[in-house]
Amino acid sequence: MTGLRRESKRIRDPTWDFSGENTKISIHGIHTYPAMMIPQIAKRLMEEYGKESKMNLDPFCGSGTVLVESMLHNINSYGVDINPLAILLSKVKTTPINHSELEKEFIRICDRIREARWKPEIIQKIETPNFFNIEYWFKPKVIRELSFIKQIIDNIEDEVVRNFFYVSFSETVRKVSNTRGGEYKLFRIPENKLKEWNPDALSTFLEISERNIKMMREFYSSVDIQRIQKGELWSKVLMEDMRAKTSIPENSVDFIATSPPYGDSRTTVAYGQFSRLTLQWLDYDYDIVKRIDKISLGGIRPKKIKDDVPSDTLYNTLEKISKNDGKRALDVYSFFSDFNKTVDEINRITMENAFVCIVVGNRTVKKINIPTDIILFELFEDRGYTHLKTIVRQIPSKRLPKKSSPSNIKGDAVSTMNFEYIVILKK
Ligand SMILES: C[S@@+](CC[C@H](N)C(=O)[O-])C[C@H]1O[C@@H](n2cnc3c(N)ncnc32)[C@H](O)[C@@H]1O
Repeated sequence: MTGLRRESKRIRDPTWDFSGENTKISIHGIHTYPAMMIPQIAKRLMEEYGKESKMNLDPFCGSGTVLVESMLHNINSYGVDINPLAILLSKVKTTPINHSELEKEFIRICDRIREARWKPEIIQKIETPNFFNIEYWFKPKVIRELSFIKQIIDNIEDEVVRNFFYVSFSETVRKVSNTRGGEYKLFRIPENKLKEWNPDALSTFLEISERNIKMMREFYSSVDIQRIQKGELWSKVLMEDMRAKTSIPENSVDFIATSPPYGDSRTTVAYGQFSRLTLQWLDYDYDIVKRIDKISLGGIRPKKIKDDVPSDTLYNTLEKISKNDGKRALDVYSFFSDFNKTVDEINRITMENAFVCIVVGNRTVKKINIPTDIILFELFEDRGYTHLKTIVRQIPSKRLPKKSSPSNIKGDAVSTMNFEYIVILKK
């Protein structure tokens, strides 16, 4: 197949832009996560290609957008991710809780916080954690306040309710840390601005919890609670690696919607860095936390490029990048070589006639555009899938780095992520 014919299957369709629409609807808005899929895309893909589906899968589920939409569409689902924060978010978002239970607990939390405001010695005396670099990332007052909130949540008996409040806590940690707002990587607020940075963790937590309870209330009223309570409607969230054999049974899935990483986490979105502070606060093992970016797709740079990925487009692209920078070519190869392994696992799990919908962005490395959408469908064609079409949408609101300096020369920025490609395949 020629390059021209492949590209001609790209269809620009502005109805997929969903420009101006609220993407934080229902339970989707309870926590930020890098490169979230907007719920409108998950919903429409499900309605156009997953109507007959009995079992959905998101192999890179992140914060669980596809899983939530599956539940709203009465379809069971599996979600897989290697990041413990993604697992927590996906589990909480697919576990509807009656708002009265949450409100009861919330009143108790408010009482404790009110008491602490009256008697500041309660917070002064609190035992604080001592994880790596905590004082660099949080002010002493914030550390005490967060420790106080964490202690209250730790004592909630019901695990489901406890996890719900851990999610509000996690969002609070992000908001009150010394990191620059709006960044997914860990950058500290500059020294001169840090002096005036005095966040109130207690109020922030209360505001976020109140908002999240409202969102859960809305979600609870939109799903089939009886089927969920009977165990007929569910979402199973698995902390596993899609490059290896997962615990999902063979031939069990008939619809996939997913937005995988866009490239290795060193040079694109660092999911590990984004999650690190929260996971440290939530007592996750630091050895696991610091390895998230390394164990993500393309996390380890190989010594050489091998001829083991069934995509001509990839090797043509690597050749061009190698001329400018051999190391970056290795990074790009590493990502697709890993992705290729996940295609084997996706193929094992999916049934005949399954639809596979993959949302990707085409990034630029060393001024060379990487046609990720084309490379991906070549990997699937190699396993006998049919590429139906690629929908091209403009990204109006997704929080992704729109500009980057691919040559690392200041001012030499190019637009990398203005368009997104939704690759539709059938097994
Ligand atoms: C673009 S995000 C998914 C966002 C998600 N669609 C959402 O709406 O929140 C990609 C996810 O892939 C996960 N990931 C990276 N390598 C993985 C692997 N080997 N196996 C499973 N998940 C992986 C990352 O941790 C990240 O959460």
